[in-house]
Amino acid sequence: MDWLLKIHISSAMLSLTGFVARGVWMIRGSSRLEASMTRILPHLIDTVLLVTGIWLAFRLQLSPIQHAWLGDKLIAVMLYIGLGAVALRFGRSRAVRITSWVAALIVFAYIVGVAVTHQPMPFTAT
Ligand code: HEM
Repeated sequence: MDWLLKIHISSAMLSLTGFVARGVWMIRGSSRLEASMTRILPHLIDTVLLVTGIWLAFRLQLSPIQHAWLGDKLIAVMLYIGLGAVALRFGRSRAVRITSWVAALIVFAYIVGVAVTHQPMPFTAT
């Protein structure tokens, strides 16, 4: 497999692992959520994920306008980041945080579905 795609997929898996861990710490009220490593590492991983994704798109000459799946994937990535921020930072109540966390995980599953199938609606039979 291509090295760039390997880095992209590895950073996607690390991003998910970190997001699941932070969600569990959020639900348990763990102080680990405040650790400097917990705050910095996800930004590094997500930056690698975004940069390698954009790099791949350029290299494969895939435009998000011509390729609807890529455009939808980008919108879903923004939604994942936004929901993640509500879940781990801005959500005011426990219910809002947990709901946003679960919604972000569903969006992540959608992103992987779109990435693998190149279809904007990966889970519907055609
Ligand atoms: C949460 C964020 C993301 C996740 C979980 C994710 C996941 C994946 C996965 C699993 C693949 C491999 C698909 C396969 O080979 O079967 C992939 C490929 C790819 N991703 Fe991402 N990705 C993310 C963000 C992005 C972003 C922001 C871009 C930017 C445009 C992007 C562009 C691409 C491209 C161009 C490919 C290669 C398509 C191909 O040739 O098959 N990804 N992604």
